[in-house]
Amino acid sequence: MCGIVAYTGEDTAKDILLAGLKRLEYRGYDSAGVALEGIAPDGSTTLDVTCRVGKVMGLASELEGHDAASTCGIGHTRWATHGKPSVANAHPHTSCDGRIAVVHNGIIENFAELRDELASRGHVFTSETDTEVLAHLVEEAYARHADLMAAVREACTHVVGAYGMAAVSADEPGVIAVARKDSPIVVGRGERGSYVASDVIALIDATRDVVVLEDGQFARLTPTGIEYTDDAGEPIEPAVTHIDWDVDTAEKGGYPDFMLKEICEQPRVVRDTLVGRLSATGELDIDELGLTFEELDLIDRVYVIACGTSYHAGLVAKNLIEAWARIPCEVEAASEFRYRNPIITPSTLVVAVSQSGETADTLAAIRDARIKGAKVFGITNVVGSPVARESDGVIYTKANKEIAVASTKSFIGQIVSLTLLAMLLGQVKGKLTTGQVRMLFRELGDTAAQIQWILDSQRTAVHEAALACKDAQSALFVGRGMGAAISYEGALKLKEVSYLHAEAYAAGEMKHGPIALIDPGFPVIAVTTKSPTYDKVVSNLKECEARGAKIIALATQGDEDIKQIADHVIYIPPVRDAFSAITASVPLQLLAREVAVMRGCDVDQPRNLAKSVTVE
Ligand code: G6P
Repeated sequence: MCGIVAYTGEDTAKDILLAGLKRLEYRGYDSAGVALEGIAPDGSTTLDVTCRVGKVMGLASELEGHDAASTCGIGHTRWATHGKPSVANAHPHTSCDGRIAVVHNGIIENFAELRDELASRGHVFTSETDTEVLAHLVEEAYARHADLMAAVREACTHVVGAYGMAAVSADEPGVIAVARKDSPIVVGRGERGSYVASDVIALIDATRDVVVLEDGQFARLTPTGIEYTDDAGEPIEPAVTHIDWDVDTAEKGGYPDFMLKEICEQPRVVRDTLVGRLSATGELDIDELGLTFEELDLIDRVYVIACGTSYHAGLVAKNLIEAWARIPCEVEAASEFRYRNPIITPSTLVVAVSQSGETADTLAAIRDARIKGAKVFGITNVVGSPVARESDGVIYTKANKEIAVASTKSFIGQIVSLTLLAMLLGQVKGKLTTGQVRMLFRELGDTAAQIQWILDSQRTAVHEAALACKDAQSALFVGRGMGAAISYEGALKLKEVSYLHAEAYAAGEMKHGPIALIDPGFPVIAVTTKSPTYDKVVSNLKECEARGAKIIALATQGDEDIKQIADHVIYIPPVRDAFSAITASVPLQLLAREVAVMRGCDVDQPRNLAKSVTVE
């Protein structure tokens, strides 16, 4: 949800900003822009702002041949909230005199009020954005302080809302002032300069030791160093985080797109998420648990709260938690949860699932739940992210950085992590024996090889199924139990990346409405893996077949009978129903990607979406 990058040092700022923005593009790609320090003919410093609608590649073309001497600048890639994607609304935004430029990620909630006040004092606005007020606030404060860092600090005192921001002033060459509240900012020192970004991925080539700014912390960067201060301007020494994931994660590594690369990484994600989780005595070991077994034993209700794909991981978890721990579990979209009055007591466990760990709705729901007395457990892919920090305990999904906007490997990491949590609850509550936990753990680990088998042997079957769907207007995904849970994810994946309308339904509900949609050739993608409801799903499919549907079945290897009703069959290896979501999701991801590629879509950066949604 908007990406920020800034650099001051000895190297060409333009190249560093463009490379950083390219890596941050997953956060938004409606427009991009940079402000670079330049030298006017009279020798004074100026700010040279260039913005372009669309992706960073367009901005790079615009900047070709541009003076490469600048060694300090700020950049931004935008996901539009206030104001349509346009050059006027693209960041950086500047003060009236053009001597201060600001990039911002977040939402200024009181921007309308601030804008009116600033306008009444003579400030002229040129965009519809909330961000522009920051440039004018800093301008006013700068007039008093003649110190960029102090001006930024003062400007922040007027703002209600969320911000990760970086500002430069033509009157302080080489200085970048940075502030953070509720929007991520990381800062780092490389050998040849100082860097700021919304995500470490933009500065990992320069340094692996970064400071993840906390709310209310500020940083002042110069070419030779970084000073950190609190909101009173007092020096602080923030913790340094070492990034140990592989830099190859940020590259496609020979794959045509990140989505396929990330789908293919899933066997590793399963293995890494499970490493060290079972002790020699058969106890599950979740060291970041943050809750004692006594506290866990008291839990009598679980809410899983999440958004998008993470919500679908929650649907899988509900089946497991209720089956193994025998505790009621509800799954709620985080954006709804906080506006209801859910029944929360001190024995309620709220499990917040978020790949990015920064989704605004999920964070707001966590805060609400904590105020109401719930224990909060986070499942996230990002170490030190707000969801991790604001939860009592956390499991990290070990997916490594996920770059494609549509989530795949994180989803699998989330399901594996939620499965561990369900097993732990079952064990603590005495519903699963140590022997059962050992056996489940071993079978869970086996899913890594099963995913690999699917990746190695089912690509042709997926391709043929994709050919059968690619020209459809709409598609239905159906299943029961686990099959229903992952059908929702299958449908979301398809619509996200291919723009083909898709709906998911519990197969038994088809007859109550959706079956009316079916006419000859209508694609129905069905999860028909061996499960207690197999026969029922097959009956539901027969009803579709009788009306001419084109049936694509995900079936268990060895099931030849399914070919009697299915036009296309994609197999997954035999697996316990509890773990079928992990394996059966993979062909659905591949199917969505294949259809998208066939339809000429940008699978890594689908239109209108952003990977990290930091607005409510
Ligand atoms: C966005 C992304 C989805 C993601 C959802 C929740 O909509 O495009 O892929 O599932 O946010 O994100 P989170 O980081 O909280 O899992």
